[in-house]
Amino acid sequence: MPDYLLLFCAYLMGSIPSAVLICRAMGLDDPRSKGSGNPGATNVLRTGGPQAAGLTLLADLGKGAAAVLLAINTGASALLQGWVMLAAVCGHLFPFFSLRGGKGVATTLGCSLLLSWPLALCQLLLWGLIFLFGRISSLASIATAAVTPLFCYLLTPALLWPFTITSLLLILRHSSNIRKLISGREHRF
Ligand code: G3P
Repeated sequence: MPDYLLLFCAYLMGSIPSAVLICRAMGLDDPRSKGSGNPGATNVLRTGGPQAAGLTLLADLGKGAAAVLLAINTGASALLQGWVMLAAVCGHLFPFFSLRGGKGVATTLGCSLLLSWPLALCQLLLWGLIFLFGRISSLASIATAAVTPLFCYLLTPALLWPFTITSLLLILRHSSNIRKLISGREHRF
């Protein structure tokens, strides 16, 4: 498969609006119109409950992992697999049908699981640790994204650029959360 087609497929896979589809199928409100307005597992937990949130998390993890799996199966190089992650995350952030996507945390983790499981484990542990102490999902996500390039440099340096760019996008996507964190208005679980 040509590289551009692989990247486009990954973008389309990332575009699947898991949170919206799951909430619609379960008869719940559209997460884009409630809570933080973010179509992601955290907001679905707030607005739709743990079952819908768990399914959203699995679906967002799954689409990221599936995009990288497709790259692996087509014989893509390690670096191209990293760019496939970025394409899938861009699909989640800026879906082609609405350009109003999520924040990319679960989709990135799904990709990391297949690109480098030790890196994914570090991301998961750091996210869990920060959430455990702060009870603020966005703080855990932003801090994990900020430290991910360091984890990557130490564990899988070949993928430093794709992970660094993905982390920057994730942090930028959390700008409204950063404003709320600074003003002490961010939601705490
Ligand atoms: O993964 C998204 C999370 O970091 C923040 O979500 O709904 O609190 O903006 P939310």
